[in-house]
Amino acid sequence: MVVAVEERLTSLGRAWGRAGFRVGFWWRRWWADQVFLVQLGSSSLRPSGLGALAGRAALARRVVREGAAAAADDALLAAYVPLVAAHYAPGGRGYATLASLDAEQARARYERQGSRLRPFIDAYPHLLGYRDGETFLDLGCGTGQNVRELLTRFPTSTVHALDVNADAIGFLARVAASPHLRTQVGSFADDATLRAVLDAAEADHVVISHALSTLYCDSVTGTRAMLHALLGRVTATHVRSLIVIDSFASRGRTAVAIEQRTRLRLAHDVLSLLDDTPGGRAHLVNQPAPYGSPGSQAVIWTRLRTT
Ligand SMILES: C[S@@+](CC[C@H](N)C(=O)[O-])C[C@H]1O[C@@H](n2cnc3c(N)ncnc32)[C@H](O)[C@@H]1O
Repeated sequence: MVVAVEERLTSLGRAWGRAGFRVGFWWRRWWADQVFLVQLGSSSLRPSGLGALAGRAALARRVVREGAAAAADDALLAAYVPLVAAHYAPGGRGYATLASLDAEQARARYERQGSRLRPFIDAYPHLLGYRDGETFLDLGCGTGQNVRELLTRFPTSTVHALDVNADAIGFLARVAASPHLRTQVGSFADDATLRAVLDAAEADHVVISHALSTLYCDSVTGTRAMLHALLGRVTATHVRSLIVIDSFASRGRTAVAIEQRTRLRLAHDVLSLLDDTPGGRAHLVNQPAPYGSPGSQAVIWTRLRTT
């Protein structure tokens, strides 16, 4: 959008917000306070007669709205399960442009790619503990943004890369051309495939970058259970670190929104999904400021030493 137009729209939005604030301030403050007092249930600090009615009505409305929102999220997920599968299938929207690249263009694209993992390696080296010679596994590696970073930084390390999209894996195998790279087409949502790749890689470190949020089934509860099991499976190996890079939701929440015709934007509370994982501890970290893209965060799980 042109900057001048964007500035005009922003100031229009701010004026609208200020006007809305003036109109609704007293009313919203009174209403929220009555809800608060109803929930407090104190014998000394009580809502007014009308306030008690309004507060109870607001609480009832909240329960209905939460039920409706949960049902709408589940319906959205169910509708998008086949759509996201097609999005990342060969020829789908996700990697539609790869097939038309000649060797030179493919190489240039690979070299140009920025790594989402890089800022976290720079900012949290002691937490991640990556060393040259150790083995890495990138689940949902795409066209190898992070694989390239790992192969360059750790030249004697073996990097295993799994993706469900055969075009992305074909592209990566073609352009990376490293004796230290092992590629595989498969879904890490499939338990047998995940077990097999974890067994074969015997990885010291696992990376899941903007890929966990693309996995879902037909309900929020089911999706959370699936991801919990998946992360449990990864940390039950001898892996020393796991990094999940994505945008996250607040504690206990999963946010579901349509991003495009064929893909949802999901944000989970990944930290809680790793809360009860034995043998390690999970840390929530922000992408450091100089790299921009402030939405990107990471949960870094590290195995505790047993000395
Ligand atoms: C948004 S891209 C992220 C790519 C890369 N990790 C990055 O950080 O740029 C999501 C990737 O996850 C892959 N993916 C989606 N579902 C998958 C699944 N079930 N198993 C393996 N890969 C999957 C997609 O094909 C896609 O390459």
